Amino acid sequence: MFVVGGSASQLLSKELAKSLKAKLAKVETRRFPDDECYVRIDDDLDDQEVFLVQTSWPDKNIVELFLLQDAIREFDVDSLTTVVPYFGYARQDKQFKPGEPISARMLARLMQLNTDAFMTVDVHAPTVIDWFGNISAKNVAAYPEIGKYLKGKGIELILSPDEGRADNAKRVADVVNCEADFLVKERLDGENVRITPKRLDVKGKKVAIVDDIISTGGTIIKAAEQLRKQNAAKIYAVCTHGVFSGDAIPKLEAVCDDICTTDTIENPKSCISVAPQIARTAKD
Ligand code: R5P
Repeated sequence: MFVVGGSASQLLSKELAKSLKAKLAKVETRRFPDDECYVRIDDDLDDQEVFLVQTSWPDKNIVELFLLQDAIREFDVDSLTTVVPYFGYARQDKQFKPGEPISARMLARLMQLNTDAFMTVDVHAPTVIDWFGNISAKNVAAYPEIGKYLKGKGIELILSPDEGRADNAKRVADVVNCEADFLVKERLDGENVRITPKRLDVKGKKVAIVDDIISTGGTIIKAAEQLRKQNAAKIYAVCTHGVFSGDAIPKLEAVCDDICTTDTIENPKSCISVAPQIARTAKD
């Protein structure tokens, strides 16, 4: 069994190879002078079960993903499972205005053309999985690994900044063995959100805000401000996908005591690996 790691998912590929007890393939990726992408796999993948790992964000990594799928298909592999840890464009899962594309559906259609199976992690819109009509597609849950990270830190509340993610906060809380609650969020535009004030029993307590994505940081910052006002003792911000656009990290550090993400997107705050959970789900 081999794991082929794309350049966007080097850390996770290594961890997944360990979890699956697979070999990590030697892969060369570079850019031509005109910025086109070149890939080459320097291992014999004939008759092998292959896992390709590559996050589809930012855009240049999407082309690399397709080239790697094609390079793998040039071997006579037993099977190819494409793992896209962070599914870029999943937030455009419908037309919000006439004339827009359904970007997530378009990517799902392209990704399944050249693979036998597909896996992603905490995809923003679960409907994305349904668009993989002809092949096995799985949405891996990160909450068991997030829960393990938070357990033992003395956290007394897991807070979802958004009612839509309340179930996930509850699952994390069950692993940590503490309470869960949620806030009600309204998105005003790409960068601004409004969170309805809510009385929370957090005075002197350690609280973790758990979300699927941190992008601008606006959502977590608004939630953390509420916790600060209500005298929480320590605020953890944890998410699956750390996009961290612009200066999100310093802004978050100003209001949160600890920031941690999984390794679906490699960033300075990646401290939880979803590899064990991907390996478990692959065997299911
Ligand atoms: C939204 O529905 C997601 O669950 C996240 O809350 C959102 O993507 C976070 O974005 P930002 O960090 O820009 O507020």
